Amino acid sequence: MNTPNISQQEYADRRKTFMEAIGPDAIAVVPAAPERTRNHDVHYPFRQDSDFRYLTGFDEPDALAVLAPGRSDGAFILFARPRDPEMEQWEGRRAGPEGAMAHYGADEAFAVDEIDKRLPGLMSGRKRLAYTLGAPTGWDSRVIGWMQRARAAARKGPGAPTEVVSLEPFVHEQRLFKSAAEIEVMQYASTVSAQAHVRAMQVCKAGMNEFEIEAEIHAYFARHGMEPGYGSIVAGGDNACILHYTENNAPLNDGDLLLIDSGGEYRGYTADITRTFPVGGKFTGEQRAIYELVLEAHTQACAVSVPGKRQRDDVHGASIKTITAGLVDLGLLKGDVDALIEDESYKQFFMHGTGHWIGMDVHDVGNYWPGGESRKLEPGMVMTIEPGIYVPSTDAIDARWHGIGVRLEDDVLVQDGAPRNLTADVPKAINEVEALMRGA
Ligand code: GLY
Ligand code: MN
Ligand code: MN
Repeated sequence: MNTPNISQQEYADRRKTFMEAIGPDAIAVVPAAPERTRNHDVHYPFRQDSDFRYLTGFDEPDALAVLAPGRSDGAFILFARPRDPEMEQWEGRRAGPEGAMAHYGADEAFAVDEIDKRLPGLMSGRKRLAYTLGAPTGWDSRVIGWMQRARAAARKGPGAPTEVVSLEPFVHEQRLFKSAAEIEVMQYASTVSAQAHVRAMQVCKAGMNEFEIEAEIHAYFARHGMEPGYGSIVAGGDNACILHYTENNAPLNDGDLLLIDSGGEYRGYTADITRTFPVGGKFTGEQRAIYELVLEAHTQACAVSVPGKRQRDDVHGASIKTITAGLVDLGLLKGDVDALIEDESYKQFFMHGTGHWIGMDVHDVGNYWPGGESRKLEPGMVMTIEPGIYVPSTDAIDARWHGIGVRLEDDVLVQDGAPRNLTADVPKAINEVEALMRGA
């Protein structure tokens, strides 16, 4: 399989679109993610801030991008850690300001220790500052300091911006619509992640531990240059009813289901897949009934994942309707389907949404409620479809259903006509899942 990437031209196009959106009299300040301490002098593996990476492609910590539309010396200024042979011998290679210009399209680049010196001047004369206040990264007080200095210099020049706006509505609206190259990268992450789920179905046996299955999946990601895009959920039996179960350390029992929610991240874009299958390779009658219902909800939600339909009202609405009617048929809910939807009785069994935007972040950015209304789908949006049913072990419910938890999750691209399922390579139909587990 070839490995797709985002080109430097595409990053330049993103910055151009972004600068048009913030306007010619604005300046944007976009910080990279900091390194985060795990313990003592050990860091967590570095993960770049998604907005910063989206606009720059630059994957180092301790960096700052400034976008100043129309600036005579160039609009894109990147501050980066300076080259330093001794530090690089200990901690790894750095692009340095030279590399920022040569390889990342920066018009000008400086060492990070020049930030405080240069920012007040860059801000001076701009009407609006686009910067997201309130992130827990320590930049706010520095930004305020630059503003104060730009304002203090107003006698000699035009002074500081008078407005501060968040970057997020601009970048996040852009990130919501995926380009052809982004879709290729997401398809790669999705295909490899689907293969990892297939592998989990093939190796799963009663008596294994959840962590052994997790290890198979993560090893598969790693062999393809990927890492988990979020904490994997590998939940046997009633652990599946804990929505964000991540302990992943219980033995797997014959007769139980195993729910796996795991997706790999490739070049900054993640997949998000859930499958549920029987540890011993064969569904029981009750498991089958719940599973078929979730699968039908998934099918109905996909059918309305088309341009013009609404993410919450239509897509989530379709799965709520299917699940509620099905739970009534199974005797797990009693009453009129519309009334059970109206009073949200279905939430005892299906308590989360049917999906979310996905891209660089698993729960990706983008406004779900523009103007207070459920967002209409448009081509280029990618979202998950993930209905589920989780039967609580309560006295009011016949014990034969207790602890059954099923979720089926795919990542779909909205396009003209039927959506494209990026994660279709891992089966969902019961006969296909059982055949795969038999080794057929
Ligand atoms: N893995 C988190 C989710 O499915 O939304
Ligand atoms: Mn999801
Ligand atoms: Mn998921």
